Amino acid sequence: MDFIDRILLGDCETVLADVPDNSVDLIVTSPPYADQRNHTYGGVIPAHYVDWFLPKTEQFLRVLKPTGTFILNIKERVVNGERHTYVLELILKMREQGWLWTEEFMWHKKNSYPGKWPNRFRDSWERLLQFNKHRHFHMYQDEVMVPVGDWSKSRLSKLSATDRTRDESKVNSGFGKNVSNWVGRDMVYPTNVIHMSTECSNRNHSAAFPIELPTWFIKLFTIEGNLVLDPFVGSGTTAEAAKALGRHYLGIDLDPEFHLLAESRVVQVQSRLLEKPPHYSTNGKNEPAQS
Ligand SMILES: C[S@@+](CC[C@H](N)C(=O)[O-])C[C@H]1O[C@@H](n2cnc3c(N)ncnc32)[C@H](O)[C@@H]1O
Repeated sequence: MDFIDRILLGDCETVLADVPDNSVDLIVTSPPYADQRNHTYGGVIPAHYVDWFLPKTEQFLRVLKPTGTFILNIKERVVNGERHTYVLELILKMREQGWLWTEEFMWHKKNSYPGKWPNRFRDSWERLLQFNKHRHFHMYQDEVMVPVGDWSKSRLSKLSATDRTRDESKVNSGFGKNVSNWVGRDMVYPTNVIHMSTECSNRNHSAAFPIELPTWFIKLFTIEGNLVLDPFVGSGTTAEAAKALGRHYLGIDLDPEFHLLAESRVVQVQSRLLEKPPHYSTNGKNEPAQS
C-alpha cells in the first residue's frame, strides 16, 4: 500500500494493518474524546474507552520504529462529579502491551474561556503523554530551545557556593544541577509545560490542534525526511505541520468530510514554509557545537 505522504480514509486500526512494521518515526495524535454519546466522532463511552483504544495502540506499537515516539493528547472527563480513570487505566494497559510511559507534557491552554462550576475551576490544561518502545529514542532537544528570559537576570546574578558546584538531589534521585552552567547563555531547554492557545474557529473542526503543537513535537523527535503519523488526523493539522517541516506524513480519518478537509490542507502547504530555526549548540550560544 502507498502510505507515504497520504491522507487515507478509514478506521486507523484497519488502515494501519497494511503499513509495515517499524516504519514510522513519530506518532502525534488526539483521539476522539470519551463521552456519553455512542461510538461516533463525538466520542466513545468512558467505560469502553480502554477496550476501544488498545487494539489501535497495538498497531501503533507495531508500525513505530524502535527509536520512535508516540505523543498522545488526551484528558479524562468528569463523569458523575469525579474525574474518570480511563486515561490512567489506559496507561497501565499500554505498559502491559509493551510501551514505556516515558514522560508527560502538560499543554496549558492559554485562552480557555472563563466559567463557573460548583465544585471545580475551569479546565485549562490537557495531557500529552509520551510513550516509547525503548529507553533510547531519537530526541533533538536543541531544536526547541527557548530564550532564557528574565529569570537569568535575578537568579544568576546572585550565585551561592552551591550554585557553583553540582548540587546533587537531596532525595537521591540521581539528578543534580549546576546553576552556574547557565550564566551567559541566551537559550535554554524548555520545561515540560507547553503554553499554547487553542485554535478551532478557522479549522472547520471542533477539536483541531493549534499547528504549533504538532510542530513542536515534530521538531523535537524527528529530522527532515522522517515519517510522521496521525491516525486521527481530523482537519489535517499534524500532516500540515509535518509537510511544512520537510517531513513525510501519513494521516488517517474515519470521516469522509475530515478526510477531504485534511487532504485540501496538505495540498496547500509549501514545503519548508515554516522558517527553519537557527541551530543552537548545546552550550546555548549561537555558535556551532565543538566537535
Ligand atoms: C479530536 S479529533 C482530531 C483533531 C485533529 N488533531 C485536528 O487537528 O484537526 C479526532 C478525529 O478522529 C477521527 N476518528 C474517530 N475514530 C476514528 C478511527 N477509528 N480511525 C480514524 N479516525 C477516527 C474523527 O473523525 C476525528 O476527526
